[in-house]
Amino acid sequence: MGKSLLEKAYQVIDETKKIGIGHLSTHSIQNGLKKAINIHGEKVIPFSLSDYLMLMHDERIIAGAIASIKENGFNLSISREFLHLDKTDEAEEILAKVFHNPVVLYPKTTLAHVGALPLLIDRKDAVILDHHVHATIQMASDMVRARGTHIEVIRHNNLEQLEQRIIELRKTHKKIWYLADGVYSMYGDVFPAKEIEALLNKYEEFYVYVDDAHGISWAGPNGSGYVLSQIRQHPKMILAVSFGKGFGVGGGAIVCPDDYIKKLLVYLSGPLMFTGPLESTTLGGLIASSKIHLSPEIVVLQDRLKALIDYFYTRCDELGLPLVSKARTPTAYFPMGKPENIYISGKIFFDEGFSVTAGLYPAVPVKNAGLRVQITLYQDESDVEMLLQIMKKVYDLFKKEQNFSIEETLKHFKG
Ligand SMILES: Cc1ncc(COP(=O)(O)O)c(C=O)c1O
Repeated sequence: MGKSLLEKAYQVIDETKKIGIGHLSTHSIQNGLKKAINIHGEKVIPFSLSDYLMLMHDERIIAGAIASIKENGFNLSISREFLHLDKTDEAEEILAKVFHNPVVLYPKTTLAHVGALPLLIDRKDAVILDHHVHATIQMASDMVRARGTHIEVIRHNNLEQLEQRIIELRKTHKKIWYLADGVYSMYGDVFPAKEIEALLNKYEEFYVYVDDAHGISWAGPNGSGYVLSQIRQHPKMILAVSFGKGFGVGGGAIVCPDDYIKKLLVYLSGPLMFTGPLESTTLGGLIASSKIHLSPEIVVLQDRLKALIDYFYTRCDELGLPLVSKARTPTAYFPMGKPENIYISGKIFFDEGFSVTAGLYPAVPVKNAGLRVQITLYQDESDVEMLLQIMKKVYDLFKKEQNFSIEETLKHFKG
């Protein structure tokens, strides 16, 4: 980031802190059968958490974490190369049942990218980044670029451009990697899984690395995620996942297509050799959450959330509310154009008792400011309805006071 961009980002973030819509602190509080969060002494309904199934508060997961810390202490302070808690193997084995393929755990999804990408991608390969791929993949790609691998960016979800680039790059490179997200974390749109699967079958040199952090738990068999709800894991597909969102715990992993790749990552990933392992609490929590994912209960939770998601998108249509993507995921983005509109609308929502996420530069381009709303089991239909009624008032206010045009605002999101 150049100095002026850095200054711009600093100013925008500092403003959100000053007006009380960013950099807030909170703790959970009871809200009938659900949970709310406390911000500055106010009970606020969260539409800003990625804990989609509200598993973070599940007593069994908390008990698993406590039992593990009592048995093992907080942290086994040694590299996995020499010694690891047997709970690590237990967690990877049960997670392999959730994903139907070998799993390697990392303390964070970010560290999974840092560990896996430099090992999987060779200097003779080429990398194609989706324009919207998550910032953590872009960061890890810089490590690959530094070793001399060719990296280029294509327009978001543009399959025609992707295929053209595969055809061109396969003439000069051994493997062509496409790096993308399963569910894009700001706009909630999705990876075109079936079309990518067709390209994997068509071009021998084509490989895919997909980060489905936001697709886990609420989608897919046993909560294995959005991508695996659409296709089976292809032998040339690497899946990065997060357990810090829908799974209600923490940590990240790579789901490997075979045992060779699992061993390669376990033996040689930088973060597993040179930094510490997952804390024992996380391992205990992961095992407990996996048991829930492997039980019929996960379907009940997924169905409850799907009903709420359907209600949300149906009501958005009925109320004429604009969304950047209408893919029925728990993440939705209301475009608002300039950052000042987020200061106004964010404050309105907070005053009405709702927490939403400000979509501001550098998380989105400067002209793509908006509000991100996340549908979770912290809410019910009446909460969703109240939120959407406020959203309607916000857009009516913008139209009245600013000559605000939804069509003009949405133009900045194309391409
Ligand atoms: C798509 C995606 N990948 C990776 C991450 C980072 O995950 P972690 O906090 O486990 O490093 C995030 C975080 O929000 C994300 O949205």
